[in-house]
Amino acid sequence: MPRYHRLGNIPRYRHTQFRKADGGLYAEQLFSTRGFSGPMSTMYHINLPTEVAGWEDLGDVSVKFLADEALRHRHLKTRLMEPRGDAVSGRKCLMGNNDVLWYQANIAEQMTNFYKNAEGDELLFMHTGSGTLETMFGDVPFTPGDYLVIPRGTIYRVQFDSLPAKMLAIESHGPIEIPKRYRNDFGQLEEHAPYNERDIRPPSELRTHDEKGEFHVVVKARKRMTKYTYRFHPFDIVGWDGYCFPWAFSINDFAPITGKLHMPPPIHQTFDGHNFVVCSFCPRMLDFHPQAVPVPYNHSNVDSDEILYYCNDKFGSRKGIEEGSITVHPLGIPHGPQPGAVEASLGATRTEELPLMLTQEALEIEDPNYWKSWQTG
Ligand SMILES: [Fe+2]
Repeated sequence: MPRYHRLGNIPRYRHTQFRKADGGLYAEQLFSTRGFSGPMSTMYHINLPTEVAGWEDLGDVSVKFLADEALRHRHLKTRLMEPRGDAVSGRKCLMGNNDVLWYQANIAEQMTNFYKNAEGDELLFMHTGSGTLETMFGDVPFTPGDYLVIPRGTIYRVQFDSLPAKMLAIESHGPIEIPKRYRNDFGQLEEHAPYNERDIRPPSELRTHDEKGEFHVVVKARKRMTKYTYRFHPFDIVGWDGYCFPWAFSINDFAPITGKLHMPPPIHQTFDGHNFVVCSFCPRMLDFHPQAVPVPYNHSNVDSDEILYYCNDKFGSRKGIEEGSITVHPLGIPHGPQPGAVEASLGATRTEELPLMLTQEALEIEDPNYWKSWQTG
């Protein structure tokens, strides 16, 4: 998606005979995520990707949102989530709408099945834990602080070096992309962008599995899970090329833009989705005007909700948050620094910040008194 990439062996021309050592043909597959005009890759399988041994309906997984929710600020404490499940089954959906779903996971187990989300791009944020995102396109190693961008339809499995591990998973019904204003007409990242092609890590190694047996791929589509069974390993690709593949980007490689006066949240934008954006608030020098107020002014995002996930407990304008906190500041009412935070920030030169509709599971980890945290008396 960010650029052309290829791994393994592919034939000189597309749609031509490409033969195995035994004389048989490799099975070509065009992998396209937006009809035939979005980012595409062409891959070559040892087996027919269409050959299915069986399938089983695992049932409805649609999210049940809270009805009739009052409009107020919320504070969720993911620290209260006990480790459970794997990198897919362990996800709890905390909030969302028709454009985007926010899942949180404290992962206890390794994945045994493979997984394919066929109805959304996924953006995983690995808060803790290192390991390998194993995909049909090859392996993407990750460490804490990595974002993993996984195009819809990618078959993958997350393998952690050790568990438990904390992860945030954003599922987007539209594509997750690099913001357009960071790219020139050729798709290259501009000089003013807060990251560069060198920071983008595509699959580094293609491990082709020519293995027979029984393999399960759980497919999410139509708001339900279906378990597909294959008689061959799903990572049987000998080569691929194109613009569609998973990739990693570390929040530690985000180069924050700072200014003489306070810079607004769009400066921190990292990814673009349909009707939402993802920003990274990273350690940075603060505003350098001698009388600058280096925490945000009160603001009303009248048309948008603002959700913050805190990777540590160092956030300049907010008290009472902890590592793993999520604050939800909904549309329609203003928010800003809590009382005392503005005065406390004066003269500071540096910050260590990193960083819809709710579900019933979100209420289980809520701090119910958060809305009072702006009270002065
Ligand atoms: Fe805000």
